[in-house]
Amino acid sequence: MNYFNYVKGELFAEQVSVTELAERFGTPLFIYSHATLERHYKAFDEAFGEYPHRICYSVKANSNIALLQTLKRLGSGFDIVSIGEFERVIKAGGSPKDIIFSGLGKTTDELTQALEANISCFNLESENELYRLKSIADKLGKTATISLRINPDVDPKTHKHITTGKKGNKFGIDIDTAKRLYIAAKDMDNIDIAGVDYHIGSQICKLEPLTQAIDAAVNLILELRDLGINIRHLDVGGGLGIQYKDETPPHPAEYVNAIVERVKSHDIDLVLEPGRAIIGNAGLLVSKVEYLKRGESKNFAVIDAGMNDYIRPCLYEAWTDIDAVDSRIEADDFVCDVVGPICESSDIFAKDRAIKVAEGSYVALRSVGAYGFSMSSNYNTRPRPPEVLVNGDKVSLIRRRETYQDLLGPEYLLDEA
Ligand code: LLP
Repeated sequence: MNYFNYVKGELFAEQVSVTELAERFGTPLFIYSHATLERHYKAFDEAFGEYPHRICYSVKANSNIALLQTLKRLGSGFDIVSIGEFERVIKAGGSPKDIIFSGLGKTTDELTQALEANISCFNLESENELYRLKSIADKLGKTATISLRINPDVDPKTHKHITTGKKGNKFGIDIDTAKRLYIAAKDMDNIDIAGVDYHIGSQICKLEPLTQAIDAAVNLILELRDLGINIRHLDVGGGLGIQYKDETPPHPAEYVNAIVERVKSHDIDLVLEPGRAIIGNAGLLVSKVEYLKRGESKNFAVIDAGMNDYIRPCLYEAWTDIDAVDSRIEADDFVCDVVGPICESSDIFAKDRAIKVAEGSYVALRSVGAYGFSMSSNYNTRPRPPEVLVNGDKVSLIRRRETYQDLLGPEYLLDEA
C-alpha cells in the first residue's frame, strides 16, 4: 500500500491532491504522509509482540517537532545526538526518560544538561568520554546510566559515507577496549552500566551484516555477564535500508525476528534506533519546473528545488525517483538531467531521465522524508521550504517557509555589532 498514489493521473498524498498543496503552499514543498509514518513505526513495534523493547526514533533523520510529537503519541522513544535535538523532543511532548543520547563528540555542557535532566541512557563512544561523564556525575552527585558503543568491525555494504561500524571509522570502541572499559566502569561510583550499543551504518539492505553485528554484541554481553557485569539491554542502532530504486531491504519484521531469535534465550531487552526506515518513504519534495533547457549534448529540466533543499543525490549520488505530479500534462517525455538552480555543478537530482515535464509543471521527488529537510541549508541565501503533514484529508502546516528576515535577522553590520 502506497499512500502517495495517482488518482486519474494526478498524484495524491493520502486523500489530498499534491497539485493543490503546491498551489496553496508554494514550491519547493515537503509533504509527509501520516499513515506511512504510522505504518512504519508499527511495523517495527508490533513485530516484537511481547518481547521487551523500546523503539527510539533517530531524530536526525527528520527532526520536525510535529513528526516527533506524532511518534511520541505512537509510543516512540528518541535517539538524539545533540542538546538541540533534546530540546526538540521536549518541545514535542517527549520526556527525558524517552531519550538516549548518541554521538561521539558530546560536550561537557551537553553531558551535564542531559544528566541533570535524567535521560535514560548515554551511549558512550570513547574512554575519555566515559571519564568525563563520570566526573560530571560525581560533581552533580547523580548516577549516569550508560552503554558503550562498540565497533564490531562489520562491513554493512552500503555507501562509504554512511559506513560506521568498520575498523578505521571514527565511531565506537573496539571490542577488546570496550571489555576493559566495562570492567573499569563496573566499580565506578555514579555510573550504572545498562547496555551494549552499536550502529554499523545506514541504508543497509542485507540482513547478514546486521546479524553479524548482533552476534558479536551478544557474545560480548555473555562474556561481560560471566565477569559479573549485568548488561540489561542491547541497542542495535538504526540502519535498516529502504527502497529508493530497486533495493530489496529486509522488512522491519524480518529484521526484528532475526534480532529476537538471537537474544531471546539470554534475557536481553532490546533498543532500536531506526530513522530512515520510519520516515524515509513518508516524504515527498514537490518542485516546479522553471525552465526546460535544450543543450547541444544534453537537455536540462531546471527545477526550483536545489541541493540546499535535498542534498543526498549530490552527497552520496543517491538515486531519487522523480515523477510528474500531473501525469496528464500534454508533454512528451523529455530526456534530461533534472537540476536545481544552485551555482554548483553537483546540484543534480537525476541524470538522463525521461520525464513528462513542461515549464510551470510540478514534479515530485520521492522518498525524501529522511535526511531531506534535516540536512537542508540556506546556501545561496535560499529560505528553506515549508513542511506539511497530511493525515487522510487533513492538512497541517508543520513548518512555514522561511522568510528573508529569518535568514538575515541573526547577522549584524559592522557598526551595529
Ligand atoms: N543511530 C545512530 C547512532 C546513528 O548515527 C544513526 C544515523 C541512526 C541511529 C539512524 O540510522 P538510520 O536508521 O536512519 O539508517 N545522511 C545519511 C545517513 C546518515 C546516518 C547517520 N546516522 C544519508 O542521507 O544517507
